[in-house]
Amino acid sequence: MSTHPTTAFGIDIGGSGIKGAPVDLTSGEFAADRVRIPTPQPATPQAVAATCVELVGSFDLPEDAAIGVTFPAVVQHGVARSAANVDSSWIGTNIETVLGDALGRTVLAVNDADAAGYAEARYGAARSTTGATFVATLGTGIGTAMIVDGVLVPNLELGHLEIDGHDAESRASDAVRDRENLDFEQWAERLQRYFGVIEDLLWPDLIVVGGGVSKHHEKFLPLLHLRAPIVPAQLRNAAGIVGAAALAAAHGKPVITS
Ligand code: BGC
Repeated sequence: MSTHPTTAFGIDIGGSGIKGAPVDLTSGEFAADRVRIPTPQPATPQAVAATCVELVGSFDLPEDAAIGVTFPAVVQHGVARSAANVDSSWIGTNIETVLGDALGRTVLAVNDADAAGYAEARYGAARSTTGATFVATLGTGIGTAMIVDGVLVPNLELGHLEIDGHDAESRASDAVRDRENLDFEQWAERLQRYFGVIEDLLWPDLIVVGGGVSKHHEKFLPLLHLRAPIVPAQLRNAAGIVGAAALAAAHGKPVITS
């Protein structure tokens, strides 16, 4: 087995789709087209494991390919510890064991925002940035990650900061923008409050905004006034897959050395 693999496989487990692709670890790009399978409902551990088997089975992966999986909750040493936007039967489940047993392979499981943040720091918007980078993914919830001089601080969970008496993601996520029919100006006011609090507490040198809505960044990022530069993510919806694959190849050691 090579000690410096050039590709690894990433799986992004989301509320509506489970997506996967092999990733070129040098460029951070997909090495083959991504495959997406709808998330089974209910998304119990066994049902999701069966979908991952189907997904991986649609590629011709080498036996020893590293596999990384993102999960939209706290993932501590492979175990799901929360379930804000996923089936509650996951809490306490060792994701790496359930998926690893089903796939017959070793799997690394990480929080979705951690995977995206790591990918942006290694290949994307925060590439070659020094100091503290804060990454927020705006989607169903708000995922957060912090990378300090190339080192990822796992499971930040700052989407659940209590701000003005509310769980932050229940006011400022992209799903809330949609649900409450907010226009971008109205939503930007909520984001301003959110990122303002984040800045006052963490003092990042750079803020990166990801999630599907980041493709419309020009409609809301210019409305935000913060101390740190705030920029759109570059890997967009590939970030989870890329970050999970890269972290799995690094054996879960979230240190960017190149
Ligand atoms: C979860 C986080 C997750 C984020 C984005 C939040 O509700 O608590 O773990 O990263 O949603 O999916």
